[in-house]
Order: sequence, then C-alpha cells, then structure tokens
Amino acid sequence: MTLADRVRAVIDAHRGDRGALLPILHGLQEEFGHVSQEMVPIIAHELNISRADVHGVITFYHDFRPEPAGRTVVKLCRAEACQSVGAEKLVRHAQQVYGIKLGQTTPDGSITLEQVFCLGNCALGPAAQINGRMHGKLDEHRLDELILEAET
Ligand code: FES
Repeated sequence: MTLADRVRAVIDAHRGDRGALLPILHGLQEEFGHVSQEMVPIIAHELNISRADVHGVITFYHDFRPEPAGRTVVKLCRAEACQSVGAEKLVRHAQQVYGIKLGQTTPDGSITLEQVFCLGNCALGPAAQINGRMHGKLDEHRLDELILEAET
C-alpha cells in the first residue's frame, strides 16, 4: 500500500463527517504521527479544495506536526499556574540540555520538545507530559530523570 493509498483510506473513513477536513487531519496525525507536505495535495484533490486551504488549516492548529515526532515527546506546560512556580526555568533547561527549541526534535530523533498551555494539573505545577504520562512538581533534575526513564 503506497502512502497515497493510506492517506486516501483515512480520507475515506472521514469523508462523510461534518467539516471533514479537521477529522481527516486528526486521522492522519493518528495514523502517521504527523501530517506531511506530501499529504497536502492528496487531501486537497480528494476534498476538492485548494492546497492553500489545507495548508492554512494545518498551520493554524498547532496539533498537527509537519514531520514525525521524536521517540520521546516532552510537553512542557507554560500556562500561568505552572509559570508562577518555575515552568520557564524548566523550558530553558530542557532547551539547553537537548540543544533544540520548543517545537523541534533532536537530530537523532530521540526527543521532541513541545509547549502546552495547561495540562489540567495546575495544582501540581510545574507540570509536563512525557509520552502521554502526566508529571507534576517538576524541577530540572526530576525532568532529566523522567526523560531518561522514558527513553530506556
Ligand atoms: Fe500548567 Fe495548568 S497551568 S497544568
């Protein structure tokens, strides 16, 4: 099955949905872990809309990744409650340790750093989600430990 066939299968599964583009993009993100530039013309053709429209929606919603994520995805909360207890320090630390900025993946594909605005864990800030698992009351040391654990 080619990439185009797999993309079309996801599109077909959501074609009847109301406002089909967003469910399709979420479906592709789920299936492939990202929505790449290669997929844009296929989606545009199948939905009979312009490539610019598809591209516009992908870039508007930060949920969609243009490229595959790293093996470990670290989402650092930068909303107010976490900021008040040191979230920015954690962000600076993580960026420095891994040599990447938020939204980027290390060149070896091991770590992706992302920002989020509230994980619903405000009472236990600074909070982060690592590969989908929630963690709270983090400091730099604990964050390093958890990322290391997630990688092994
Ligand atoms: Fe960070 Fe709510 S502000 S979890």
